[in-house]
Amino acid sequence: MTQPDLMDKIVALAKRRGFIFQSSEIYGGLNGAWDYGPLGAELKRNVKNAWWQSVVHHRDDVVGLDAAILMHPRTWEASGHTVNFADMMVDCKNTECSKRLRADQLNNGKCPSCGGTLFTEARAFNLMLKTSLGAMEDSSSVVYLRPETAQGIFVNFANVVDSMHRKLPFGIAQMGKSFRNEITPGNFTFRTREFEQMEIEYFCPPQEAEQKYREWIDARFGWYINLGIKKENLRLREHHKDELAHYAAGCTDVEYNFPFGWSELEGIANRTDYDLKQHAKFSGKDLQYQDPVTNEKVYPFVIEPSGGCDRAALAFLVDAYHEETVNDALRVVLKFHPQLAPIKVAVLPLLKKNDSIVALAKKIKSELQKEMVCVYDDTAAIGKLYRRQDEVGTVFCVTVDVQSIQDQQVTVRFRDTMQQERIPIARLSGYLKEKLI
Ligand code: GAP
Repeated sequence: MTQPDLMDKIVALAKRRGFIFQSSEIYGGLNGAWDYGPLGAELKRNVKNAWWQSVVHHRDDVVGLDAAILMHPRTWEASGHTVNFADMMVDCKNTECSKRLRADQLNNGKCPSCGGTLFTEARAFNLMLKTSLGAMEDSSSVVYLRPETAQGIFVNFANVVDSMHRKLPFGIAQMGKSFRNEITPGNFTFRTREFEQMEIEYFCPPQEAEQKYREWIDARFGWYINLGIKKENLRLREHHKDELAHYAAGCTDVEYNFPFGWSELEGIANRTDYDLKQHAKFSGKDLQYQDPVTNEKVYPFVIEPSGGCDRAALAFLVDAYHEETVNDALRVVLKFHPQLAPIKVAVLPLLKKNDSIVALAKKIKSELQKEMVCVYDDTAAIGKLYRRQDEVGTVFCVTVDVQSIQDQQVTVRFRDTMQQERIPIARLSGYLKEKLI
């Protein structure tokens, strides 16, 4: 299978089985925006829960935050986004083409669309999405949809220190929507104009920054591996000095081997003390950290692991995709890590016309449903029902048959190996929970 074929298959499966739909599809779609269907919403929620658990609940040194998307416009002046968050654009001068293009995406000086060689002067095109607040639409009402969640953390630094009595080093984590008017959205949900970020700003004494930077690189790389990404599909790429923002002391990307090539999932950056100093300057507030024992004041350095939820979900989907031939037929299976699988268990009656079997299957489903995401399906023969569940990555199928009525046991089938085991109904929930961890 060629790599473009693989991507086509994943996009088709995502639509057919309710993971991801084109935004506003009935109106012809909206470029750069995607909707998550019932199973995609579960997958994305599981990715976010796994991240929050790993960086907030399972650590003593990170707290969470949920700041507003709309922020005071001065925020973006302080952060540099108003001036610097731009791509250089040119227009093709061929009147039959007139395409607007990113200056760095010309094909050896030629228009990738028509081959033309004449362009307008390059102009900066700011990527922030503008809207206006309140009843008047003038320059004083302009606000931006945040292009990153990070600034919501920096402007709340003092609030968190004061309310939570945090001592250095500590971090603030936040996930949520961000918006960028990307010139060339594409590669399915990889580059979009509306997306979700998962970001941590980790504040530490300047002399500890290098060590914390290295620790966060390891922790974030390990997170993807622990959730099932194959080692050979994940790598770290340290930025060259000339790639770094002027204030950054280092940056390393976690990259995934997508069908369209190695691409960034997450960046871990040492942002020095730039952001807090900028916000102190623009707001007039003292944003230094004061040591409660020595009373010494310092601008902490910041290590920023910044990932994309949609990109992570796409990588988990691609990595889980698996094809094999079973009894001369193609079996497509999404081998999601159990924590990420949208559905954990499907309860299936072997004979849908047998009232006792159906009643027992429904009873088992309604009990399991209290503890794990569970579905009931009796709309096809058992072989077909198994394939359907494999294709969406359901970890276990529980089959209720005639024998189950007599011996109160069911057949549990594991997705990856298709191996089956007879388990007493009384032990079923405990058995599944143990395997699903
Ligand atoms: N605060 C730092 C920051 O925003 P970034 O590299 O611009 O850094 C961080 O973005 C992460 O957000 C990326 O690694 C990616 O996962 C995600 N991301 C950025 N732009 C995106 C887009 N247009 N579509 C989907 N995800 C995006």
